Amino acid sequence: MLKIAKYPEPILRKTAKAIADSDFNAELKSLAEQMAKAMYQDDGIGLAGPQVNKSLRIIVIGLGYGKYKTYVNPEITYSSKDKMSVEEGCLSLPKIFGYVVRPKKVHVKYQDLDGNINKEKLKGIDAVVLQHEVDHLNGILFIDRAKKISQGQEILDALKKKINGK
Ligand code: CO
Repeated sequence: MLKIAKYPEPILRKTAKAIADSDFNAELKSLAEQMAKAMYQDDGIGLAGPQVNKSLRIIVIGLGYGKYKTYVNPEITYSSKDKMSVEEGCLSLPKIFGYVVRPKKVHVKYQDLDGNINKEKLKGIDAVVLQHEVDHLNGILFIDRAKKISQGQEILDALKKKINGK
């Protein structure tokens, strides 16, 4: 089972690398499968490469009942002006939750595991999950965007102390 990187592990702050055309192979498919397993194991609804210590632009999103969808090299090409606020959590920040305001609708361009380019329009919670995961590829965590931490502020404070207060 892939191990989930937890905040403040530095890999979570790195910008992940694009997956090259030559890397669409069985190994990539296996990585996606292992990521999905790790995600379901911890009851997550999305997982990004850096969260399993792979600094690569790959995301899996849970569709329920063990099913998942993979987005390789995802790019958000449109974000609506309309926003929504959702309470988010993250497998890399266990027991911490916070309200994040994000665009309600996004368009995403991505490659599937065979390298084919696809486009998709997402709204509501699906749009939120995708934006959260794309943030991971850019070293951004929901706590950076949260207007308010709703649960686990003391856990977060202790983790931040670990970074700053050596
Ligand atoms: Co996350």
